[in-house]
Amino acid sequence: MFYTIDFNKIDITNAPPETEPERQYYFIAKCREYVQKKREELGRPLLCCIKTFGCQMNARDSEKLIGVLEAIGYQQVDTEEADFVIYNTCTVRENANLKVYGRLGYLKNLKKKNPNMKIALCGCMMQEEKVVEKIKKSYRFVDIIFGTHNIYKLAELIDIHLNSEKMAIDIWKDTDKIVEELPNERKYPFKSGVNIMFGCNNFCSYCIVPYVRGRERSRKPEDIVHEIENLVADGVVEIMLLGQNVNSYGKNLENSITFAELLKRIEKIEGLERIRFMTSHPKDLSDELIEVMKESKKICKQLHLPIQSGSSRILKAMNRHYTKEQYLELVKKIRGAVPDISLTTDIIVGFPGETQEDFEETLDVIRKVRFDSAFTFIYSKRTGTPAASMENQVPDDIIKERFDCLLAEVQKISAELTGRDIGKIEKVLVEEENTHQKGFVTGRLSNNILVHFEGKKELIGKIVSVKLEEAKGFYYIGTLSSTV
Ligand code: SAH
Ligand code: SF4
Ligand code: F3S
Repeated sequence: MFYTIDFNKIDITNAPPETEPERQYYFIAKCREYVQKKREELGRPLLCCIKTFGCQMNARDSEKLIGVLEAIGYQQVDTEEADFVIYNTCTVRENANLKVYGRLGYLKNLKKKNPNMKIALCGCMMQEEKVVEKIKKSYRFVDIIFGTHNIYKLAELIDIHLNSEKMAIDIWKDTDKIVEELPNERKYPFKSGVNIMFGCNNFCSYCIVPYVRGRERSRKPEDIVHEIENLVADGVVEIMLLGQNVNSYGKNLENSITFAELLKRIEKIEGLERIRFMTSHPKDLSDELIEVMKESKKICKQLHLPIQSGSSRILKAMNRHYTKEQYLELVKKIRGAVPDISLTTDIIVGFPGETQEDFEETLDVIRKVRFDSAFTFIYSKRTGTPAASMENQVPDDIIKERFDCLLAEVQKISAELTGRDIGKIEKVLVEEENTHQKGFVTGRLSNNILVHFEGKKELIGKIVSVKLEEAKGFYYIGTLSSTV
């Protein structure tokens, strides 16, 4: 953690400051007193746990929440048998919601055993009114509920709850605010996600994200560069730039700037070795970006380019703003510029009105593009989205059949593709000790594929050269070639 605030020096006898982030520093200092007192009372440290559902955006938010809890004085543990538990929720598909309700029953029992326990719910699911109503009614043991726009306020909300001893609820419909310079804790010392923008303006007709994450807002380039410089000074060598549609980065800034220009600035940061980003919307992927990817020494040879469907008719109904042919053309251009790039995608099966012919078009695209991997999803009806009220919802048994067929095809192609680099010596960022084989470590290639090889744990966080000897399913077994 690179922030340098001494919370002990903050005077909490005064009224809280109005400006951010100073206001939150004040509440962190206040909550520290509570935790300190409880610790003395119980004769043990207070523990916290955060469970993250959903995407990388949520994972990054969780790191910020943990940063605040640790600044307050909690110690992070993996289990929910803790004194402060946060569920950072997702609502992109119905089963994401069901998972959360399922686990809440388990939390209720834990809380009976530990009366000191505090439970907070946040994230995308909490932006839905009917969810909050349900929790208020049927899950009274929850202490704090907040949404996606005000995660920076965690310390203040804890303070409100401690003072009232009631369920503290704070949900904002939208925001134009971005609060910088708050504590955060990284899961990995050597790599980090970095938000470059929040929200989404695309309103794909099936998707709930624009409703729960609000309008698109870009961070200022200088704030992003500053954060990355600090991360690098703290040992980070790889970053993942995060946004729902990174290709439209910068459009709403006072001094507008393109995503490609931002990448050029980030590339200059000394000590930073690898740059990844997600997600790229095909409709906004510019020639300028392809050029930057071609010239860059640091941008990884990997692109996640969700297609959603191969049928131009369905793509129109999805409000995606590209056709099958335009997508294929784009792939051709990208591969022309970066021949060894690894392409991955997202596909939805069973969008309302999808016919067998439409589905065949999707199969056709995946056979033509040959994605390294694809995340396949069964269409989930999200209340409030235009697709939810469309006629011709596809019957479950037909969706299931198509889904299985698609998955088999996707996996067949992935298996054929891994292995194409056997015999090559490639750079690998070592991430962890191998959990299955003693004396082995695991790392990632520039194209994000995993490699296992014999090596010491001291290599973790380093980029080393590894000879790729053997392909097994979706990963390689290699041998260490050199440590530079
Ligand atoms: N912003 C990203 C996607 C974020 S959501 C993009 O535009 O590509 C991640 C994926 O979830 C989407 O790509 C889509 O494939 C899937 N998804 C979103 N809403 C869905 C729904 N209602 N049912 C099934 N899958 C959905
Ligand atoms: Fe959802 Fe579309 Fe926005 Fe992605 S671009 S988050 S799929 S609305
Ligand atoms: Fe889920 Fe929210 Fe991400 S709905 S996919 S956690 S933006």
